[in-house]
Amino acid sequence: MKAIVYTEYGSSDVLHLREVVKPTPKEDEVLVKIHASSANAADWHLMRAEPFLARLSNGLLKPKNPRLGADVAGRVETVGRNVTQFQAGDEVFGELPLNELGSFAEYVCAHEEALALKPARLTFEQAAAVPLAAFTALQGLRDKGQIRQGQKVLINGASGGVGTFAVQIAKSFGTEVTGVCSTRNLEMVRSIGADHVIDYTQEDFTQNGQRYDLIFDAVGNRSVSEYQRILSPNGICAVAGFTSLSRLFQFMFLGGKKVGLMETAKGNKKDLLFLKELLETGKVVPVIDRAYPLSEVPEAIRYLEKGHAQGKVVITVVQNNET
Ligand SMILES: NC(=O)c1ccc[n+]([C@@H]2O[C@H](COP(=O)([O-])OP(=O)(O)OC[C@H]3O[C@@H](n4cnc5c(N)ncnc54)[C@H](OP(=O)(O)O)[C@@H]3O)[C@@H](O)[C@H]2O)c1
Repeated sequence: MKAIVYTEYGSSDVLHLREVVKPTPKEDEVLVKIHASSANAADWHLMRAEPFLARLSNGLLKPKNPRLGADVAGRVETVGRNVTQFQAGDEVFGELPLNELGSFAEYVCAHEEALALKPARLTFEQAAAVPLAAFTALQGLRDKGQIRQGQKVLINGASGGVGTFAVQIAKSFGTEVTGVCSTRNLEMVRSIGADHVIDYTQEDFTQNGQRYDLIFDAVGNRSVSEYQRILSPNGICAVAGFTSLSRLFQFMFLGGKKVGLMETAKGNKKDLLFLKELLETGKVVPVIDRAYPLSEVPEAIRYLEKGHAQGKVVITVVQNNET
């Protein structure tokens, strides 16, 4: 089968489409014929080994796992003999664990607990856009941010892969949402449910006198003290991203109880089924910026790395008219 492979750290130039052995599922695994995947910041962090700490888990000098891609949407081809939840032909979606990436490929084996049936109303591309980004938004808002109905919530980076899910998930909890984005994304962020939008090229949201009960930061470009100033007395700021190492250390060590990095989001069945329900009821609709074929994963990652995606960048492995 074909897969994107990298054997050294570096820019997108280290990614190559290669012929590799098609995997065989273990007893509790499912072999999925991948129809679509999507690109995430995790892919280029691992590809570049940035920050340097990534090398501790993924190999000091070269990647231990030569494959990338976390999000999967596709059709079950075969199942291991202990698999009870799926059968051949099922349309599924889910996320591979970060140490077992490999969905930029034609096939992948996944543990049955990592998958759920794909919502019927979603295309494979839409389903592949969801898992990692939406887990991040959900776990940031709910677990770190303790989101509650009626709160005033601010999403910084509302137009990106994670941010577009954060806006919609925060709305589904019955909150009043303000999305921060640039001029060209104002309409899109409004259209996915934000009650208010702030154009960061025109207005500094830390200086306009507003306070928030919960801030979810998918950019990581502001200081701890700026956030402390605009949080309500019991407010929480959950930070998902960071723009420099000094910001990272600030969020890790200086934010106290109110401002801090969320844990790395983890895929799990319970949250996948929770998201599936939001997708089936139309409360969350994936926003897709553009799609690249498998052979153009390097271009997709290059585009994502520029930091201005409008929603998700997906990878089409099987075109709609193929099976
Ligand atoms: N903790 C975790 O488990 C976890 C998981 C996934 C991602 N992350 C992190 O979360 C962050 C977001 O990921 P993502 O996938 O959403 O990235 P992305 O899709 O590349 O998001 C880029 C978005 O950020 C917006 N943006 C850029 N500069 C901005 C600014 N100054 N103010 C407000 N918005 C700005 C861009 O909008 P404009 O084009 O309008 O500027 C664009 O829409 C990344 O740092 C990633 O590493 C963390």
